[in-house]
Amino acid sequence: MKWILYIVLLEVSHCYVNVALNKPAYQQNPFKPNYSTGDASNAVDGQKSDLSRSGGQCVISAGSVTATWWVNLTSIHSIQKIIIYYMTDNKPWGTTNYYTGFFLGFSVYVSNSTYRQQGTLCYKDSNFTLETIPAVVNVVCPVHGQYVIYYNERLTEISYPESYKLYAENNVCEIEVYGCPVTGCFGSNNSLPCLDVNCQYCHKETGTCQMCKPGYKGQTCELECNTGKYGDNCTRSCGNCQSQSQCHKVDGSCSGECAAGYKGRLCTDRKYYF
Ligand SMILES: *[C@@H]1O[C@H](CO)[C@@H](O)[C@H](O)[C@H]1NC(C)=O
Ligand SMILES: *[C@@H]1O[C@H](CO)[C@@H](O)[C@H](O)[C@H]1NC(C)=O
Ligand SMILES: *[C@@H]1O[C@H](CO)[C@@H](O)[C@H](O)[C@H]1NC(C)=O
Ligand SMILES: *[C@@H]1O[C@H](CO)[C@@H](O)[C@H](O)[C@H]1NC(C)=O
Ligand SMILES: *[C@@H]1O[C@H](CO)[C@@H](O)[C@H](O)[C@H]1NC(C)=O
Ligand SMILES: *[C@@H]1O[C@H](CO)[C@@H](O)[C@H](O)[C@H]1NC(C)=O
Repeated sequence: MKWILYIVLLEVSHCYVNVALNKPAYQQNPFKPNYSTGDASNAVDGQKSDLSRSGGQCVISAGSVTATWWVNLTSIHSIQKIIIYYMTDNKPWGTTNYYTGFFLGFSVYVSNSTYRQQGTLCYKDSNFTLETIPAVVNVVCPVHGQYVIYYNERLTEISYPESYKLYAENNVCEIEVYGCPVTGCFGSNNSLPCLDVNCQYCHKETGTCQMCKPGYKGQTCELECNTGKYGDNCTRSCGNCQSQSQCHKVDGSCSGECAAGYKGRLCTDRKYYF
């Protein structure tokens, strides 16, 4: 009898997901106050079938000297790439499209704060033209961060190519941020989710946790912070809650009253009596 061994080579898919989906988003210059048709959150609503200005699936900004849009991933994620879908008004892209010239010169940052300069510049366009800028931009940026920031500027002291529109805008219809889900990924091609539930990110090859989420510690992030400690790796000391057990393990805030003589969210401020 002859045994035939079939080796099935499975295409192992990435464990990456769109970690920006439905996360809090912000824009510096909204077109109008409380204008849901152009709200910053439209870029993370998962909808990109209608790329028009009026469709309610895109962000609309007021033209200005600088344009900033960001999404808060709500915790540090391992990011792989960012895909931007520009507003086209559902019309042909390129030289004839009204919007193309607003996007020339754009930048994409990943940061741990809302300040782009504190983060990593993933991409800065200095080369695209009305003919070459794609309507869907793919920015590969394998870094860890919490905020993805789209930025553009039209500074008065700089002279731009003629094709650049006079003002900067951030009219994007969707910004997808592909990265590891909250628990992270590891293995060949990052195809497996990290093993430890409370892990912020794990070793790319072995899956062992390299950094626990705030509030947890231990080899496999299995331990909550000891009483009186909180935050990243449980390294921060609680303030003066009435009882130390009322100190929140993640952010250190007190769920009850402060001990006599203290005030503030963390009960770290001295109360003075006159
Ligand atoms: C990793 O991804 C690359 C490109 O997508 C693919 O060619 C390769 O077969 C993958 N490797 C494994 C082990 O899945
Ligand atoms: C905008 O929304 C905020 C909060 O939802 C509200 O307080 C404010 O009155 C609204 N402004 C206008 C102009 O509708
Ligand atoms: C981002 O999200 C985190 C977690 O929800 C929150 O604590 C933080 O304040 C947010 N950042 C901003 C700038 O709103
Ligand atoms: C954000 O913080 C993490 C953990 O401290 C760090 O590894 C990463 O490099 C930081 N990202 C950026 C863009 O500064
Ligand atoms: C600039 O654009 C041209 C034309 O699209 C392209 O061939 C070239 O590789 C680009 N250079 C850089 C540095 O991106
Ligand atoms: C967390 O603390 C442990 C014990 O002090 C240390 O070995 C480890 O490197 C720390 N990890 C991080 C990400 O700070």
